[in-house]
Amino acid sequence: MKKWSASRAPAGRVAYVNGRYLPFAAAGVHIEDRGLQFGDSIYEVFNILDGQPTDEEPHLDRMERSLRELGMTMPIGRAALKLVIREMIARNRMADCFLYLQVTRGAAKRDHVPPADGPRPTLIMTMRGQDKAGFAQRLEKGIAVSTQPDIRWGRRDIKTVQLLPNLLAKQAAKKAGAFEAWLVDDDGFITEGSSTTAWIVDDSGALVTRDLSNAILPGVTRQIMLAAAHDTQMKVVERKFTVAEALKAREAFLSSATGAAVPVVTIDGHKIGDGAPGPLTKRIRDLYVERSAPKKR
Ligand code: PDD
Repeated sequence: MKKWSASRAPAGRVAYVNGRYLPFAAAGVHIEDRGLQFGDSIYEVFNILDGQPTDEEPHLDRMERSLRELGMTMPIGRAALKLVIREMIARNRMADCFLYLQVTRGAAKRDHVPPADGPRPTLIMTMRGQDKAGFAQRLEKGIAVSTQPDIRWGRRDIKTVQLLPNLLAKQAAKKAGAFEAWLVDDDGFITEGSSTTAWIVDDSGALVTRDLSNAILPGVTRQIMLAAAHDTQMKVVERKFTVAEALKAREAFLSSATGAAVPVVTIDGHKIGDGAPGPLTKRIRDLYVERSAPKKR
């Protein structure tokens, strides 16, 4: 049988599909599921630390918003959803991992028009282990970024599974020897990474990340880091920045549920700052971890 996962980041043994906990290899959805047929589907990624979901409420808030924007509702209540997340953590016996949650509009006869009385939505969850050694190395040494044109649709604020432009950009970045792609709009401004929020430290020493609009995903990690920065009087500005400005930034980093404040040390092969992870990147990372690390209960 085909092996599904790289050994460094194994998949959890148990998957969840619409009320059932199934062996990972046996889990599946209907062939006419609209998530598969049309990408009619949204998702969330949770960082599970020490057996607890990190930033759970803001992720669920964003999930609810994504569904609302597409005319869908939560497939089950929030309390029930939290129970399923905990049951997945327990059944998979994975204390530190990522949990992937996806909601599709459900299975229905193929028709572009979403059915008026929507079918039952499909709710699925899977888990994946973390490449801790790789992550530690990225924090210590920093990563390379490659700029790529942002060819996505006009509602990037909705966390849909329509990720083809994102994955093609990341593939191109990888080919260029980089870890992440920073996407660039038609006016030369960086929108965000292919699966991360983009940040720089500008020449006044302020943390800068793009202001929220339909052009970017409202990152949960971004939201927590902004609140932490405000609370500690770190200088922070939400505004657009160009590739040219990023190239002469003092520091650069990216954030997501899969890694808060990961230092960026080169962009398109140009050194950022002195080419090593910077002090403000570390400071905002520490502040984030302090706020978000699950407390032992
Ligand atoms: N990606 N921007 C994009 C396009 C993203 O896909 C993500 C998350 C982020 C950061 O959002 P957050 O801080 O809420 O994780 C920004 C997830 C991790 C993924 O697709 O795997």
